[in-house]
Amino acid sequence: MKILVLGNGAREHSLCYAISRSPLATSLFCAPGNYGISLLAECKDLDLDDFNSIHSYCVEKFIDLIVVGPEVPLVAGIVDYFVSKNIKIFGPNKYASQLEGSKSFMKDLCKNYSIPTAAYSTFDNYEDAVKYLKKQSLPIVVKANGLAAGKGVTVADSFEMAEKALKEIFENKFGINMSAVIEEFMEGEEASYFVCTDGTEFISLESAQDHKRIGENDTGPNTGGMGAYSPAPIFTDEIKKQVDDEIIYPTLNAMRELGHPYQGILYAGLMIKNGKAKLVEYNIRFGDPECQVLMLRMKSDIVQLMLSCIDKDLHDFELKWEDDHCATVVMASNGYPGSFEKETVINGIDKLENTDTFQVFHAATAIKDKKIIATGGRVLAVTSKNASLSEALKKIYDSIHSIDWPEGYYRKDIGKKALT
Ligand code: AMP
Ligand code: GLY
Repeated sequence: MKILVLGNGAREHSLCYAISRSPLATSLFCAPGNYGISLLAECKDLDLDDFNSIHSYCVEKFIDLIVVGPEVPLVAGIVDYFVSKNIKIFGPNKYASQLEGSKSFMKDLCKNYSIPTAAYSTFDNYEDAVKYLKKQSLPIVVKANGLAAGKGVTVADSFEMAEKALKEIFENKFGINMSAVIEEFMEGEEASYFVCTDGTEFISLESAQDHKRIGENDTGPNTGGMGAYSPAPIFTDEIKKQVDDEIIYPTLNAMRELGHPYQGILYAGLMIKNGKAKLVEYNIRFGDPECQVLMLRMKSDIVQLMLSCIDKDLHDFELKWEDDHCATVVMASNGYPGSFEKETVINGIDKLENTDTFQVFHAATAIKDKKIIATGGRVLAVTSKNASLSEALKKIYDSIHSIDWPEGYYRKDIGKKALT
């Protein structure tokens, strides 16, 4: 099969890595991709909002299957578009993508189907939101009610901070006419849980733990994710059963009842406290950097898995994992998630050998004057697996010294919580 992956991050690099190992994949393409991805797939600089151009490219290259990495094209309806063109595409359709694209859609669904999550209210104007806010206790969570590239959520320790977040939402910082959701703060430890579903059946993928804050010991502002490991020991078999019974099944049933079965990857962001999980959010795609650790551990053929979802034939699929631990450490440009210098030169990556147990996935790299340069905030995801998490981490931190990039930053405490 000729397969096209859409996206340009380390998540998409790891998807390309897994897909390239499938006997079903005869040719691999990626749009727009990055330098690291171009070593595995033919890359084409396409705008992911421009479905017609993507379609022309698919026709030119005889693409049989499209795999969508990021949420934005899914929320914009890329699956509906390519279904109408009779090209197989992996991911949820536009209606089902509201689970990530609209916080109020997701929260209303939870309320209607008794799915455990934080209490909330939705507001379409600043005055009512502030009136409600004044009656709440702290901390409190304020969310923009739509996609905001991971920047639309504020966990506020003061009313001033919550008011400022509301003001930004109603001053259209995240988009015109966006409403706001004010949510009860949930305490606990977070974990990411992924299922792959054909609309009726689902298969659990392994759990993973992200590290969202920029600073060590989980300090400083939120980022896209600075590192991950899998499996996540906090996600026990008991919690998995509770999440499947109380969160995943009811959600998939609800989507079918609403007439829009959910197909693709469903990513549940969970808050776990006293052995019970509540839903923080849904995402409609693989997590980044969680995908990187899952792809290195997946033993089964991912293309077969995706085709089974698309063809509603997941029933007999047996998903196999390597019985080991995987970690990834993200290297970011100094200054990220704030402003940072672009096009800084990275040396030494070529000294590291990519193997079945070690991969440097690229998130934002390009070639300029024959040198590898950084082109974004999160730039590399150094990923390794081993029989033990501590050995996997040791390999990563030993290898990172070979990467000569003075303008780069990484956390030195990834996975530390799971080791203690
Ligand atoms: P979201 O985009 O909804 O996942 O929120 C981003 C991050 O904000 C989450 O990963 C949590 O760390 C935090 N967060 C969101 N909602 C809540 C909540 N109700 N209580 C505590 N933390 C939250
Ligand atoms: N790792 C968080 C996300 O992908 O949304």
